Amino acid sequence: MHTHADDTPRTHDHSTDDATDHAATEPDFFEVASWDDRYDGDDSVWSGNPNPQLVTEASKLKPGSALDVGCGEGGDVIWLAQQGWHVTGADFSAKGLARAAQHAKEAGVDDRTDWWQVDAREFDAAGRSYDLVTSHFLHLPDGRMVDAVGRFASAVNPGGHLLVVGHSPAAHFTQLSESKRRAMFVAEELVAGLPDGFEVIVAEQRPRSVVRDGKTIDIDDSTLLARRTGAE
Ligand SMILES: C[S@@+](CC[C@H](N)C(=O)[O-])C[C@H]1O[C@@H](n2cnc3c(N)ncnc32)[C@H](O)[C@@H]1O
Repeated sequence: MHTHADDTPRTHDHSTDDATDHAATEPDFFEVASWDDRYDGDDSVWSGNPNPQLVTEASKLKPGSALDVGCGEGGDVIWLAQQGWHVTGADFSAKGLARAAQHAKEAGVDDRTDWWQVDAREFDAAGRSYDLVTSHFLHLPDGRMVDAVGRFASAVNPGGHLLVVGHSPAAHFTQLSESKRRAMFVAEELVAGLPDGFEVIVAEQRPRSVVRDGKTIDIDDSTLLARRTGAE
């Protein structure tokens, strides 16, 4: 099992997580068994802190309903709930979702959160819709985040927002396997996945420095924020 002894990204930057090339030893890195395995240990995998681009962008929005796809242990879900949103955390890992639900309970926001086990590659809104659909550091194989953006967009209410953030395959990540680098993206690539009726508010790389093992690492948060037109 992957223990995260030295790469537990408890500061929530994900950089050291991805710097360890799981693909070399875990060919099914993109499959649910791999993530269930990661969430099966005793320690938290992520910090519990909200992702910085979420805080930056969602703080400007009026709270309503939200969906967080690839929610992991629920740090973003809990922060949104604490800001007054009603939040559904979605992930394909049942073990991740169980942890997230426990964390939400401990944070006292279980009445404003619920959970949905779903594979983002086949995401179907199935009639559900939200004022904010967000996804942070979900990296699907073979460039499939563009398709996922279209799927997630279908779950956005008129006047609502879609926020997708992930790693760009920047310098820090050159040591990773080709398959992992192909799963990363720059924000402009995702714009192609937006259906008609969305206006792009942000599609940019946002540089961020994080410190790992005493070393400062420069990464980019690939950040797409789009708004569905049709309501004020
Ligand atoms: C790097 S973690 C990010 C977790 C959380 N968003 C955060 O920022 O802390 C990626 C998450 O995406 C989930 N995930 C990966 N592939 C997925 C897929 N195809 N469908 C749904 N969830 C997926 C994993 O289980 C994991 O919880």
